[in-house]
Amino acid sequence: MPLVTSTEMFKKAYNGGYAVGAFNVNNMEIIQGITEACREEKAPVILQVSKGARAYANRTYLVKLVEAAVIECPEIPIVLHLDHGDSFETCKSCIDDGFTSVMIDLSSKPFAENIEGTKKVVEYAHDHGVVVEAELGALAGVEDDVNVSAEASHYTRPEEVEEFVSKTGCDSLAIAIGTSHGAYKFTAAQCTRNEKGELVPPPLRFDILDEVVKRLPGFPIVLHGSSSVPQNYVKMINENGGKMPDAVGIPESQLRKAAESAVCKINIDSDLRLALTGTVRQYFNEHPDHFDPRQYLKPARANIKELVRHKLVDVLGCNGKA
Ligand code: G3H
Ligand code: 13P
Ligand code: ZN
Repeated sequence: MPLVTSTEMFKKAYNGGYAVGAFNVNNMEIIQGITEACREEKAPVILQVSKGARAYANRTYLVKLVEAAVIECPEIPIVLHLDHGDSFETCKSCIDDGFTSVMIDLSSKPFAENIEGTKKVVEYAHDHGVVVEAELGALAGVEDDVNVSAEASHYTRPEEVEEFVSKTGCDSLAIAIGTSHGAYKFTAAQCTRNEKGELVPPPLRFDILDEVVKRLPGFPIVLHGSSSVPQNYVKMINENGGKMPDAVGIPESQLRKAAESAVCKINIDSDLRLALTGTVRQYFNEHPDHFDPRQYLKPARANIKELVRHKLVDVLGCNGKA
């Protein structure tokens, strides 16, 4: 089937008590790892391209690689989504290039400015059959070239969501309930330690999510910054020349609980990067004389595939839902 929007996907996810995975893509191997897992598990999927990824690969390559995945995986619905669009121009350019979904992220702007800018994108997108994700609240962490400190981050204010959605006409809403971008989501000071001495992050604010859902019944909610930072890959990186102390993510049990609620889209990027980097580092340690990219990218792609399979089955619950 051709690229789809997320409209049907979100309806089914909302009613079915699961979430669709939104995975960031930067190159062919990442796209293949994700989509092969989704095809085998019969899962719908959102492939998302950040502004930085588009700058890295240029505006053509990732679209064409995603179109190749659509040809290779005709049985599963695939959305091509712009992640963290920062302006009308970026969103328009992606819509004109064939994206079926865009995010306009004006969450750092004052409320009225966020409404006005989002509405403008929604009008253009809807005229072209494209859906729009918007955001209220500010996640901590690193995204593109923006680094939001823990102090500057703030939770979504539930009292703002109805006015925002009705005035903008957006199709889904990203909210801040304690997730965070990147591999260093929490400082040691923000965490407690379990009996094994591992860092345990503060729980997500499900009370805020519940309040949002009460005010927007039936409306699809999105969670960004939802990597779990698998410790086996952090260890693999650190044991093979890397230095990633105290990298910690969102516990998968919390994401599973979110997926069963109105959260229809869960964004995962850092976990795939850790799998790729850990695998490549280990490969070079074990094969210092190798230099063929196919040799070290093949196991990296395979590990991305298995990680995505785990997310689909054990965290998102979207396997078998294509
Ligand atoms: O939230 C941002 C995503 O992880 C994309 O990251 O801007 O480095 O491509 P990026
Ligand atoms: P992570 O850094 O937790 O993978 O979040 C990705 C994300 O939100 C992309 O928009
Ligand atoms: Zn994000």
